[in-house]
Amino acid sequence: MNSKQSVMTLDEFTIQELRNFPGATGQLSGLLRGIGLAAKRVNVEVNKAGIADILGEAGRTNVQGEAVKKLDEFANEQFIDALRTSIYCCGMASEENEDFIPFLDEHSMNSKYVVLIDPLDGSGNIDVNISIGTIFSVYRRITPEGTPCKLEDFLQPGSAQIAAGYIIYGSSTMLVYATRRSVQGFTLDPSIGEFCLSHPNLKCPADGEIFSINMGYYHLYDDATRRVIDGFLAKTPQERIYKHRAVGCMVAEIHRTLIQGGVFFYPAYGKYQSGRLRLCYECNPMSFLVEKAGGVSLAAAAQRLLDVQPTRLHQRTPIFIGSSTMMEGVKARLAAMS
Ligand code: AHG
Ligand code: MN
Ligand code: MN
Ligand code: MN
Repeated sequence: MNSKQSVMTLDEFTIQELRNFPGATGQLSGLLRGIGLAAKRVNVEVNKAGIADILGEAGRTNVQGEAVKKLDEFANEQFIDALRTSIYCCGMASEENEDFIPFLDEHSMNSKYVVLIDPLDGSGNIDVNISIGTIFSVYRRITPEGTPCKLEDFLQPGSAQIAAGYIIYGSSTMLVYATRRSVQGFTLDPSIGEFCLSHPNLKCPADGEIFSINMGYYHLYDDATRRVIDGFLAKTPQERIYKHRAVGCMVAEIHRTLIQGGVFFYPAYGKYQSGRLRLCYECNPMSFLVEKAGGVSLAAAAQRLLDVQPTRLHQRTPIFIGSSTMMEGVKARLAAMS
């Protein structure tokens, strides 16, 4: 027998998990497999984004009337299709669609979950070959199984999430997800086309070296936010030095924070007086994941982000998130009187 331990795939891992929880129905595992499949399809398109125009030209004579889709529309369609086909959720909501989408076939309607997604995060990075991602969030429905899902199923506070995660299409492609118990990271092995468990039981380091925020808005932030930023800027060579990084893709910022520690902020400013990032599609799933890994996420000095009660699907929120020790200082500076 080969003594070398083989790496577990996402499908094997989710099935294995079912053995540990005899009462489990397998619906969540089925959902994760559907999300993994859509992610692989999106990954193929992301990898050829730079040559999409060339391929489009070549295909024009053969494929009549088929418009080349923008990557974020393509990603949205892939995740909608995968979730609809999975029959393990009764509806979904996407950053790209104004209203939620109920799945009305009998199997889907009998399932207990709803899913929210940001199909392509950081889409401004596509043209310059920098990381982009997908974010997803899973809730147990409030309305009875067997009936069409309703808006209230989607408007639950982030603390009610059953699972949440992201896919990062970076120098490698990874799927990272959290349940109430743990955070697990899988890396896509292109040779077999499977996500393989590479980062089991991820924990966010309590401290880190990096702070991340769009500094271009510095003078538009309020006093409290500027106080937070100033706390990370060394004024003498003797002070502790932090590095500033800003990728322009929340998934990439959070992934780096999970692996290396650090903090990421997207506060309110100028025309975005409630912040710019979406509560239900971006901030809740990432906050759930970071908290499960030991980190902290705030919407304001005295407001845990996961406790915010959403009132609208596309609601925005400020966010301050990251390593627990660094976030203690952030919280104190946010709360301090100017
Ligand atoms: P999306 O591509 O889904 O619209 O989200 C992009 C978001 C987020 O990922 C990123 O952190 C932020 O926009 C960047 O915004 P700024 O350019 O204002 O910093
Ligand atoms: Mn986004
Ligand atoms: Mn998006
Ligand atoms: Mn967008």
